[in-house]
Amino acid sequence: MNQEKIIVIDFGGQYNQLVARRVRECNVYCEIYSYRTDLEQIKSMRPKGIILTGGPDSCYKEGAPTCSRELFSLGIPVLGLCYGAQLMMHVLGGKVEKAPVREYGKTEVSVNTSSPLFQNVSEKTICWMSHFDYIADAAKGFEITAHTKDCPIAAAEYAAKNLYAVQFHPEVLHTMEGTRMLYNFVRGVCGCGGTWRMDSFVENSIQEIRKKVGGGKVLCALSGGVDSSVAAVMLSKAIGKQLTCVFVDHGLLRKNEGDEVEEVFGPNGPYELNFIRVHAQNRFYEKLAHVTEPEEKRKIIGEEFIRVFEEEAKKIGAVDFLVQGTIYPDIVESGLGGESAVIKSHHNVGGLPDFVDFKEIVEPLRDLFKDEVRKAGLELGIPEYLVFRQPFPGPGLGIRIIGEVTMDKVRMVQEADAIYREEIENAGLSKNMGQYFAALTNMRSVGVMGDERTYDYAVALRAVETVDFMTAEAAEIPYEVLKKVMNRIINEVKGVNRIFYDLTSKPPGTVEFE
Ligand code: XMP
Repeated sequence: MNQEKIIVIDFGGQYNQLVARRVRECNVYCEIYSYRTDLEQIKSMRPKGIILTGGPDSCYKEGAPTCSRELFSLGIPVLGLCYGAQLMMHVLGGKVEKAPVREYGKTEVSVNTSSPLFQNVSEKTICWMSHFDYIADAAKGFEITAHTKDCPIAAAEYAAKNLYAVQFHPEVLHTMEGTRMLYNFVRGVCGCGGTWRMDSFVENSIQEIRKKVGGGKVLCALSGGVDSSVAAVMLSKAIGKQLTCVFVDHGLLRKNEGDEVEEVFGPNGPYELNFIRVHAQNRFYEKLAHVTEPEEKRKIIGEEFIRVFEEEAKKIGAVDFLVQGTIYPDIVESGLGGESAVIKSHHNVGGLPDFVDFKEIVEPLRDLFKDEVRKAGLELGIPEYLVFRQPFPGPGLGIRIIGEVTMDKVRMVQEADAIYREEIENAGLSKNMGQYFAALTNMRSVGVMGDERTYDYAVALRAVETVDFMTAEAAEIPYEVLKKVMNRIINEVKGVNRIFYDLTSKPPGTVEFE
């Protein structure tokens, strides 16, 4: 892609995807690379600017992640954030050491507003701090441009060389004017024109797909989720009936979801494509019988999915291209991009390997964050209810049933989840909520229903507020709504006699239960 580009170099900090997203919100394209990436490779990408992220280490310790001194003399503007700022100083001859006072949380920072980085920023501004070390002495040539009560060098710059360092995290929303600072860097200092826009992305992608695919035959695994739906519609707009979508109904979908997907993408829907729905429920239940370990369940579902898909593909015959709805966070989270550890093996990444007879993979969304995929979906004219559909994991309800999966448990969680979602919608809360669903715990407990003893399962309700799904907070759902959901589930879902609300944030929890 011939885009002006900012490169984010990842030193293992927790907000690194946020940095990239904020840059893109300034209409500037941006990619994340590990600090281990070869400098030559970075140079060859001809970035308009480089951002060094935060990270958990001390830059002066042996073996800590580092970068070469040459990075700062390429003539490319560099902005260091937190660890990245300290590293810049350390590598260029400044002094970084353990701070006498650790700063953590929202902190008032006094900035020099004549700095290019702080144009149109208030003189006293609230920033998010999180550091043990601090910059004791700036490197030669640097001017100090911000300080706090406890941190004498909260920002420094060598404007003539376009080097900027800030101790705080402008990418975090708690930094009130952080987006403005990043905007000043990418649009001002780096001179990016702001050409990264969804309408042109969609139009370019359709053209590129046409060019790449030619008259070829294309196969797409459609899940009905936002990502694969947007990918499928984009492909169908580009190449119409050359596309065949295979929808594997693994019996782990939400209530009625299989039929809904068929309505939209099937022969009676608005799109011109070949659609095949495979009813594979029983195969999945058989494979999952007696399996309780989460990663094993994920693997079984992933592998069985591939097998079913493979069989369908064989019926279709040789295809030229395979479509995947991979998005950018999938790539970063799977350890293919930045430095992040693999927490869960996500089912849609690096799956579908060399089993179908195809030449190449098409991943039209691999550069996009989730909110950008949604914007692309709207650009493509996909109905809002589909575009803003709740995220749903590839392994489906399989990872929302703790422990063994059975058909009866699937029924319980489907019904409980449908009630929960319905009540959240009725209460007018659905638009502003990140993700919400019901899960079935593996806990049974004693209860009483109409004078009879019960020994039934407990449902956990989960709702999280999140910007990027990397971190999340439990949502504060009004008690009245929760109570109503509880009443309905207990009364309407056979086999459930207790309801919990999950208060855990991510970290330490994850959004899903397995
Ligand atoms: P976790 O549980 O990892 O979830 O905190 C973060 C987001 O990712 C979704 N998720 C998945 N999506 N395949 C997917 O396509 C998966 O295997 C998978 N596991 C989790 C989850 O629903 C949440 O939105």
